[in-house]
Amino acid sequence: MDLHAQLEPLRPLIGTWRGAAFGRYPTITSFEYTEELTFTNVGKPFLAYEQRTWSLSGQAMHMETGYLRLPAPRIIEFTLAQPTGQTELAEGTMVMEGGELILAVRGKVMNTATAKIVEATEREYRLSGDRLATSFAMAAVGQSMTNHLSSHLIRVSD
Ligand code: HEM
Repeated sequence: MDLHAQLEPLRPLIGTWRGAAFGRYPTITSFEYTEELTFTNVGKPFLAYEQRTWSLSGQAMHMETGYLRLPAPRIIEFTLAQPTGQTELAEGTMVMEGGELILAVRGKVMNTATAKIVEATEREYRLSGDRLATSFAMAAVGQSMTNHLSSHLIRVSD
């Protein structure tokens, strides 16, 4: 399937990425987990995105889905749905720096009535060849913007 011309700069991201990850937050006990990300070309001017995670013993943990757009050169839009009752509209930029493709976005968040309240998010994706490093920070449950997740992934399929 042809990749929409607008998405050409994101071509290196398409595929499945997997690896070790770490979670933390001032209010919880830190933990290690396994993360898998998939960015899929669906023939439209956006990539479909899915994240799945597992504990080290293989138990399913958090997952999320969404869409990634590049509506103008270097402008990134990430629309995300969380199973924990949040939606995120994350916007930012894409830059090439020292051979790395860096996507950095800040998210506005909506929460359901029963969700733990997340006020805002920050995400970063650093792609270098077959390696993808991610980080996720949030202002949530009364804490200021603080890192919750980081991962170091390698490409497992195109
Ligand atoms: C806790 C949000 C992803 C594992 C929390 C809390 C929030 C939150 C608001 C509550 C903190 C507290 O009550 O003090 C999010 C959001 C995510 C995300 C918006 C979107 C990316 C993940 C992922 C994992 C994870 C990928 C693990 C693979 C946990 C754990 C806790 C936690 C273990 C503590 C237990 C709990 O309150 O459920 N997260 N999280 N989170 N998160 Fe996340």
